[in-house]
Amino acid sequence: MSKQQEIIAMFDNIAGSYDLTNRVMSCGIDIAWRKKACQLAFKNLSKDSLNAVNIADVACGTGDMISHWQKNANKENVKIQSIVGLDPSEGMLNVARKKLPEVEFVQCEATKIPLESASKDIISIAYGIRNVVERKQALEEFARVLKPNGILVILEFTKCENPSFLEKLMGFYTKNILPFVGGIVSRNYRAYRYLPDSIEEFLTADKLNSELNAVSLKPLYTKAFSASVCTLFIAKKL
Ligand SMILES: C[S@@+](CC[C@H](N)C(=O)[O-])C[C@H]1O[C@@H](n2cnc3c(N)ncnc32)[C@H](O)[C@@H]1O
Repeated sequence: MSKQQEIIAMFDNIAGSYDLTNRVMSCGIDIAWRKKACQLAFKNLSKDSLNAVNIADVACGTGDMISHWQKNANKENVKIQSIVGLDPSEGMLNVARKKLPEVEFVQCEATKIPLESASKDIISIAYGIRNVVERKQALEEFARVLKPNGILVILEFTKCENPSFLEKLMGFYTKNILPFVGGIVSRNYRAYRYLPDSIEEFLTADKLNSELNAVSLKPLYTKAFSASVCTLFIAKKL
């Protein structure tokens, strides 16, 4: 099994307990980060496209980000014309389909998106890009599927280069406490050990922005939250 297949199989294994574990581990703090992501994406779209927004949520998992798109669009009077969730894990998609039966979900990886070129106003990927082994290929796919001036939204746990005391403290929490709590709730310690390991192997925010620039996705906004535990990236397709 390839590293990518192993990662997807791991998500299949934890799909049933994913939502509960996530809620316990994040204590709901991610809701504010997701809300900010939706608000900023809408703000950076042209007025015209806000009447018929087409969204693809990549690595959608159990559909959390899709619910946030719907909720925030309602609040801000934005009209969603279409929304589709994409994920390679059958287990995660099964949970998503039960929660959001009206939404279309497609099983695929971020590196091979079965959507037309220049067809989406927004692509989002929340806590997903870290799991994509062929990241460059995925970023190229995002650039292909986005319309010109379309918006890419990435939420991700990023690595901190020169951590402050508070950032070190949060790093300790992510590395040691989170896997323990996640392991207990999901009864799969190995899967939640993967979380800090994959953050450690992942990029700094600056490096991810360079990779976005390299595929004509111009970074517009980068903001770290909660002592740099999570970073929000907003980029525009040139
Ligand atoms: C931490 S979950 C995030 C789920 C959801 N976006 C959320 O915000 O809760 C990561 C997701 O990435 C998916 N994933 C893993 N490898 C992937 C790949 N190569 N392409 C797209 N998604 C992938 C997993 O199946 C999993 O559902």
